[in-house]
Amino acid sequence: MRHVLVLNGPNLRRLGTREPEVYGVQTFADLEALCRETGRRLDLHVDVRQTDDEAEMVGWVHEAADSRLPIVINPAAFTHYSYALRDALAQRTAPLVEVHISNPAAREEFRHTSVVAGVADGTVAGFGLYSYVLALQAVAEMLERGEAR
Ligand code: DQA
Repeated sequence: MRHVLVLNGPNLRRLGTREPEVYGVQTFADLEALCRETGRRLDLHVDVRQTDDEAEMVGWVHEAADSRLPIVINPAAFTHYSYALRDALAQRTAPLVEVHISNPAAREEFRHTSVVAGVADGTVAGFGLYSYVLALQAVAEMLERGEAR
């Protein structure tokens, strides 16, 4: 069974209480359960992680590159300014999908730039937690088609 990392950046562990009008009322535990359930359906072993620490996130991305693991990543605020994360993701050796719960393009100006989008296969944004389901489906599809790098 293929392993997939689902990586989440700063503040995402606070889902459910963090700005529920933007991110909804479902918790990080709900997100973990949804990703695992989606993984079972797609025959993927899904490892869901969250960190507020840029160095830890970069370390996980290196681990994925070294082990040829596909990544679904919600970089959260790192999306908009972390060149370190972008440079780490550029080393990927397997499918990479950027994901967002909200639609950053419809929000404040600073959220309109993603410094990681250019190194991803694609981005899914704006569908709430369902964005992760779509992203995992895209990974499964790419693996199926042998598009893994
Ligand atoms: C987010 C959007 C980002 O702009 C924001 O900094 C987040 C969450 C999303 O999932 O909608 O923390 O990545």
